[in-house]
Amino acid sequence: MTHSPLKMMRRAGRAAAATRDAACALVKPGVTTQAIDDLVRADTHSRGGRCAQHGYRVGGVPFPANVCTSVNTVVCHGVPSSDVVLEDGDIVNIDVTTELGGWHGDTSRTVCVGTPSPEALHLVEATRRALTLGIAQVRPGVPLSRIGEVIEVFARSQGCTVVRAFGGHGIGRRMHQAPHVHHHATGRPWPVLQPGMFFTIEPMLCLGRSEVQVLDDGWTVVTADGSLSAQFEHTVAVTRDGVEVMTLPVF
Ligand code: MF3
Ligand code: CO
Ligand code: CO
Repeated sequence: MTHSPLKMMRRAGRAAAATRDAACALVKPGVTTQAIDDLVRADTHSRGGRCAQHGYRVGGVPFPANVCTSVNTVVCHGVPSSDVVLEDGDIVNIDVTTELGGWHGDTSRTVCVGTPSPEALHLVEATRRALTLGIAQVRPGVPLSRIGEVIEVFARSQGCTVVRAFGGHGIGRRMHQAPHVHHHATGRPWPVLQPGMFFTIEPMLCLGRSEVQVLDDGWTVVTADGSLSAQFEHTVAVTRDGVEVMTLPVF
């Protein structure tokens, strides 16, 4: 029995979303990002999935963990560690990629630890809304570049900047495939969206400048100016009528 790509992507997406939310529910002051990694590993396996980020490489060092945990000034690809203890006022992005049945779901949320500062809360909410706005653009016939255009304009209106060095990506049988999804305006209105395309939208917004640096571990991406950064990510499908989000919360 074979299933359609849409059915397989729904399965992988739902599993990733469930694991993401289980991990986010663990967050409170005193929890280590290693504990989040342990939960993600067990929860992913309990759903019949595999942590697709584990051992993933783009040429350099294989990613050494099961989930990305990016705290405060870490933009993305933070490496879980028993040395990183979450503290009241921190913000942490939890980015889960599950492979299930040969297909991938990729999703993240940023959550506040304890009570956030007003600035941190503003950044997190602006980033969440930027993703929602991006998703709202998706339907057949629309240029992919529309997503970045609306996200960039919205981010600016909120006094935030958009990271340009990383973007969303096509996804399916592989975690990362074409096309690249910019979260800023590019002036290149292609490709045009068509039913059957799967990709992620995953804006990273900052309170300061948008330039980033990669640390010596080969993975951890931080803001160059030490400003706070947040991210939200969903995997979406272009459908005949518009868009379907593969990684919504599962109730
Ligand atoms: N989940 C990340 C993304 O959204 C990819 C992380 S790759 C890793 O594209 F190796 F760092 F895990
Ligand atoms: Co992604
Ligand atoms: Co991701």
